[in-house]
Amino acid sequence: MKILLIFGSTRIERHGEVVFNWVKEQINARDDIELDAVDLRDVPLPFYDEPESIGALDGKFNHEIGKEWNERVSAADGFIMITPEYNHGPSAVLKNAIDYAWAGWNYKPVSFISYSNGMIAGARATEQLRLIASGVKLLPLPTATHIPMLADAFDEAGRPTNDKTTQSLDSVLKELTTVGQKLAA
Ligand SMILES: Cc1cc2nc3c(=O)[nH]c(=O)nc-3n(C[C@H](O)[C@H](O)[C@H](O)COP(=O)(O)O)c2cc1C
Repeated sequence: MKILLIFGSTRIERHGEVVFNWVKEQINARDDIELDAVDLRDVPLPFYDEPESIGALDGKFNHEIGKEWNERVSAADGFIMITPEYNHGPSAVLKNAIDYAWAGWNYKPVSFISYSNGMIAGARATEQLRLIASGVKLLPLPTATHIPMLADAFDEAGRPTNDKTTQSLDSVLKELTTVGQKLAA
């Protein structure tokens, strides 16, 4: 299964990079997932300003980067979105990246990993993402990894300080690959 892993914080001195790196490492250790990992810093999409809604554009993007982003999304069988929580929602940059594709999302599964520096662990951002994902006909999966108190959640080597974090990610990956297999059957 080809998974596009999308990291949704582009802030200067962002703290979530440890999550992104750890998830990449965990996925790369498996042989049932082919990973394309994207840091949205490397895909500097403008705020969506194409003259038509994405579904009506018919591939005629004003911005070449929009076309490239759509090709990357279309190549995946499923997605994992890593989101911080900003004001009880996901980051604007991640929402914009979702807005910036259409057919490539349609009827493919998406899992979520969230974190924050509070106890809420980005769970509210994840719930909002499930609604947004439905808007582009993604299939949001029920199992997610929520990482609270990010500052204490990883040691200096970038390993989770709580085994339950790893167990939770295993459950997410198991669900995503199971659904991927069923959709491909
Ligand atoms: C604009 C903004 C809004 C935030 N809102 C929330 C919030 O609603 N809930 C929460 O738990 N943490 C919130 N935080 C704290 C973040 O959890 C913390 O800064 C985290 O490190 C953000 O991820 P990042 O550093 O990878 O961007 C907010 C941070 C920022 C920058």
